[in-house]
Amino acid sequence: MRLDKFLSSMGIASRSEVSAAARRGAITVDGVVCRDASTHIDPDRSAVVFCGRSVTYKKYRYIMLNKPEGYVSATEDGKDPTVLDLLPEEYKKFNLFPCGRLDKNTLGLMLITDNGELSHRLLSPKRHVKKTYVYRSKFPITDEEKELLESGVTLDDGYETKPSVIELDSGRDSGKITLTEGKYHQIKRMFESVNNKIIYLERVTFGPLVLDASLGRGEWRELNENEIKALEEHAK
Ligand code: URA
Repeated sequence: MRLDKFLSSMGIASRSEVSAAARRGAITVDGVVCRDASTHIDPDRSAVVFCGRSVTYKKYRYIMLNKPEGYVSATEDGKDPTVLDLLPEEYKKFNLFPCGRLDKNTLGLMLITDNGELSHRLLSPKRHVKKTYVYRSKFPITDEEKELLESGVTLDDGYETKPSVIELDSGRDSGKITLTEGKYHQIKRMFESVNNKIIYLERVTFGPLVLDASLGRGEWRELNENEIKALEEHAK
């Protein structure tokens, strides 16, 4: 890959900025000053330093966001802020998008990436990727309602939900629910089907990812290597 393409695709500088920096002698490749921006490098092996900053090649970006209320899971929206608005300016040049959707008032774990293929595989209904949500309902649920919700209920459009698992808290009006699918407003509609109402919903896991407790609402971080590997394994 050309040096200028490598640095611009990493979001470090535009191609013309790379050329200018190369001419100034501000770029080294494997410890040697490189004055020609069209030089071919090996993105996985060459040690590139741009203006004193070491640049590691990343084909894709993977971001864990703790979604706050009021943001929509979209790349753009005419009305509301999107989850991408929570990322700093330098990420705007990548084709990032949210992997899956959370409702505007749902909180918690959201994966944002530019890896379309991995995202597609993680969201495919065939893969049954598990998602766990902490919830609170308006009314406590009975054992019969819990069993119904777990074995499958019929939603308002006639869809029969797949089995889910509920861990109820002692008060019976809150707990955790784990689904292997993600229909529109699924958990809210599941609880409506038993004449109840979800009043708090926060996703805490997505496949192998667990919401990082150190992230405040609206905060994000890039996934570490282990998390990326686990996601790739999950999507196989
Ligand atoms: N189920 C819902 O009802 N809303 C979400 O955001 C996610 C799951």
